[in-house]
Amino acid sequence: LDRPRALSGIQPTAGSFHLGNYLGAIRQYVALQETHDAFYTVVDLHAITVPQDPAELRANSRLAAAQLLASGLDPDRCTLFIQSHVPEHAQLGWVMNCLTGFGEASRMTQFKDKSAKHGADRATVGLFTYPILQVADILLYQANHVPVGEDQRQHIELTRDLADRFNGRFGEIFTVPEPYIVKETGKIYDLQDPTIKMSKSASTPKGIVSLLDEPKASAKKIKSAVTDLETEIRFDEEKKPGVSNLLTIYSTLTGTAIAELERRYEGKGYGALKTDLSEVLVEWVTPFRERTQEYLGDPAMLDGILAKGADKARAVAAETLAATYDKVGF
Ligand code: ADP
Ligand code: NA
Repeated sequence: LDRPRALSGIQPTAGSFHLGNYLGAIRQYVALQETHDAFYTVVDLHAITVPQDPAELRANSRLAAAQLLASGLDPDRCTLFIQSHVPEHAQLGWVMNCLTGFGEASRMTQFKDKSAKHGADRATVGLFTYPILQVADILLYQANHVPVGEDQRQHIELTRDLADRFNGRFGEIFTVPEPYIVKETGKIYDLQDPTIKMSKSASTPKGIVSLLDEPKASAKKIKSAVTDLETEIRFDEEKKPGVSNLLTIYSTLTGTAIAELERRYEGKGYGALKTDLSEVLVEWVTPFRERTQEYLGDPAMLDGILAKGADKARAVAAETLAATYDKVGF
């Protein structure tokens, strides 16, 4: 019971998670169940920062939960829930909004990127303030560690600043969290443009491996990944970003050290590496897709897991919110 706490949230909006989500974040969720008191949430409140079809959103939230379970989250060893089932997130979010400077929020690069994409005039206030809701997501559970990809580092920094600010101004109640970013997989790159991260918003269909796609289609994407004009299979992120990305994916999915892969493929061409990696990927996604379908095929079980998760989460969140309200003067 003296385990450190972990909290992470993941958006349900894409339908299928992609390989970057899995290697950068979800794999760590699974590992931290063993060492942490871990809370994982499907962040549907974050999803509506951009327009959503209601029926699709509801279905995608369940689909996200099914994929997390299929990835290896065990409801007996972690707390898995849907964010909107725990109203304390929005409630603490408001308090945190009132603690954040407008200029401070304006410096969040994810907002700049995302609002540029949606058109600055059409971006919602919710999109602007979503990093602050994320602060509340983390602080509610007194999380010590937040497993995320590299792109989230700035938001965890904001969380630390706001926790410190609240503690300093009103009295110590919040744990100041640290990001938990695995260096090797903190950033998985687009298969067609290995200088940008694989992402549901920025990648073209050929550049992103969606975990629920036909395995054959994903294998094809690996085989047509952009590399370089040399032939040597060597890890060098600067000079050989495409090959290095493939080596990272291969190494992580199989648990083989990159140096060992470099040795194994010495004198062999990129074709051999890609063919083998595409097989590794097919072997991984095939059972993943089956397990996801099993969870979706048993709605009563899935709902039961999520209801129990929300109860466990609320017990912790309500306690933090009550302490916060008391300090604030409510
Ligand atoms: P996306 O960036 O595709 O919109 P999300 O923002 O929903 O995906 O990210 C969910 C989690 O996956 C976050 O912890 C994020 O840091 C991580 N993540 C997303 N893309 C990548 C990537 N290409 N490499 C590593 N981690 C990633
Ligand atoms: Na992201």
